[in-house]
Amino acid sequence: MKIAVIGTGNIGAAYARALAATQYGVVVGDRDPGKAAALAHEIGAKVEGGGIAAAFTLADIVILALPYQAIAGVLTEAGDLTGKVLVDVSNPISEDFKNLVVGLTTSAAEQTQAAAPSAHVVKAFNTIFAALVPAQAREGRKLQVFVAGDEPTATAKVRELAQALGFVAVDAGPLRNSRFLEPVGMMNIQFGFFLGAGPSTAPSWAHA
Ligand SMILES: NC(=O)c1ccc[n+]([C@@H]2O[C@H](COP(=O)([O-])OP(=O)(O)OC[C@H]3O[C@@H](n4cnc5c(N)ncnc54)[C@H](OP(=O)(O)O)[C@@H]3O)[C@@H](O)[C@H]2O)c1
Repeated sequence: MKIAVIGTGNIGAAYARALAATQYGVVVGDRDPGKAAALAHEIGAKVEGGGIAAAFTLADIVILALPYQAIAGVLTEAGDLTGKVLVDVSNPISEDFKNLVVGLTTSAAEQTQAAAPSAHVVKAFNTIFAALVPAQAREGRKLQVFVAGDEPTATAKVRELAQALGFVAVDAGPLRNSRFLEPVGMMNIQFGFFLGAGPSTAPSWAHA
């Protein structure tokens, strides 16, 4: 199975590198195809890189490693999205890091699903900082990835993906629960960057 990573910034590069060590094929897409090709070349022969539309076409699962504000526009260039699994990792925060730009009665993931009704949007990884994506940065720690979505096959594929990357995948229910997961991501940013915990912090849920 092939995974596309759209975006070559902090989180896109981190997942492209980490995925290269798994059983998945990896294709990187960027609005600058040269950037995607350069990242792919740096990672190794198993990773392809190029434009956004090509990456969407080649992959079964697409990680949207983009600012929330860029996602709807990128989806208009993505071609036929029927049945594609779109992984929304975003935390839709304002520039001053003080607010969620979508408010609390919807979520970035639900808005992305509305923009791509034929795709299956799955919320995941938004509570994991880029610094914790490499497996070696998590040695001795079992970090949870909360996975929310409405289509059971799609959410199962994303839970498998999280596990292949060495995370503990937690079923977080329907996509609607993204409106609760995104504030958790926001709180993680507060801990990480404003309350002294640093970028190795991550939330976990303790079930009895
Ligand atoms: N960084 C983290 O630790 C972390 C953790 C969890 C979740 N996230 C989420 O991951 C997403 C990406 O964050 P990041 O830290 O990787 O950001 P970043 O380093 O700024 O990278 C953003 C990527 O999106 C691309 N991009 C921006 N606007 C675009 C547009 N209009 N069309 C096409 N591509 C566009 C950028 O391309 P250019 O290089 O051309 O600008 C870049 O490749 C965000 O939604 C964030 O909330 C981040």
